[in-house]
Amino acid sequence: MQYKQLGKTDLMVSRICFGCWQLSPRFWGDVPLEPWRKALHKAVDLGVNFVDTAAAYGEGYSETCLGDALAAGKLRDKFYLATKVYWNFQTAERYPDTSYEYVIQECEDSLRRMKTDCIDLYQIHAWDPLTRPDEVAAALGKLKKEGKIRWVGVSNMNVEQMSLYREVFDVESFQPHYNLLAREIEQRELPYCLQHRIGVIPYSPLYRGLLTGKYTRDHAFSDSRATYDLYVGKAFPRMLDALDETKKIAADLGLTMAQLAIRWILTQPAITSAIVGIKTPEHIESIVPAADDILPIPIWHRVANILDTARKEALAMKG
Ligand SMILES: NC(=O)c1ccc[n+]([C@@H]2O[C@H](COP(=O)([O-])OP(=O)(O)OC[C@H]3O[C@@H](n4cnc5c(N)ncnc54)[C@H](OP(=O)(O)O)[C@@H]3O)[C@@H](O)[C@H]2O)c1
Repeated sequence: MQYKQLGKTDLMVSRICFGCWQLSPRFWGDVPLEPWRKALHKAVDLGVNFVDTAAAYGEGYSETCLGDALAAGKLRDKFYLATKVYWNFQTAERYPDTSYEYVIQECEDSLRRMKTDCIDLYQIHAWDPLTRPDEVAAALGKLKKEGKIRWVGVSNMNVEQMSLYREVFDVESFQPHYNLLAREIEQRELPYCLQHRIGVIPYSPLYRGLLTGKYTRDHAFSDSRATYDLYVGKAFPRMLDALDETKKIAADLGLTMAQLAIRWILTQPAITSAIVGIKTPEHIESIVPAADDILPIPIWHRVANILDTARKEALAMKG
């Protein structure tokens, strides 16, 4: 496993991060826990030292399962633990809330659920339009002072929002949606993060599984993916045709398509680690080799061009 410094922090994180959103039944259905726990242990064996979750995943369920597994396996000190705050899910309809009181309360709840006394990376999940940055800063400052969080990151933000936060507290990492089919952040956010040495840890690096190229044309998704643009109608087979083409490029490099998609992300100099959503030991075991190397530059562009064209055509078919 290769490791990289997360921004300016003292965290040397593995280039593959173990993503725990899969333990959110609302989005992913009923994911069996035993294989998931085994995957967490397998991750340790393979040198993965970075795990990402959020208070909102399953309204505390993901953090609780993670805390139980870390405690039962005595694994807490094997991982840098990253979680997020933003959604207030105390009411029937959840809403963004990074108010002083909520951040303090939710952090206490996350610590309790994860059975730990310190979170290594505490992330603001998205931009909250109703809370002033200095109020967020006050809450984070208190938590840092009390030793409950070590470093702070943000997710799902643009340059302006990151800049506003950076005026009042240190932002060490950025967690954006980034993969071969979603490249918007290459224009502004990635250069900004490079310039300011902010670590970048993309989510959905496999476009929630599509970029593995493992699904057949008649695959029926039983989770929320059944409604995603590129997973439905004529768009889906168009994407699979393109993935058949890129799979051949992967094979020539001795890689699976999933490994190629992850290596493509890790080739970007701004990127620290890719957060992969894991359900089984096979998922983590087969993805780790992606981090052994980076891609030759012409291949990086070739794969991106093929999938970019396919995405545009697929979306047009949908319309
Ligand atoms: N900050 C945010 O707003 C945000 C949003 C989304 C996610 N995240 C974080 O990012 C993580 C990853 O994102 P994601 O779950 O959306 O998407 P992802 O990593 O792109 O896709 C996960 C899916 O890919 C498949 N997969 C994973 N490893 C595989 C392997 N080695 N071989 C074959 N298939 C494999 C599985 O699909 P099957 O289930 O079909 O097997 C899995 O459910 C999450 O767990 C979470 O920690 C953050």
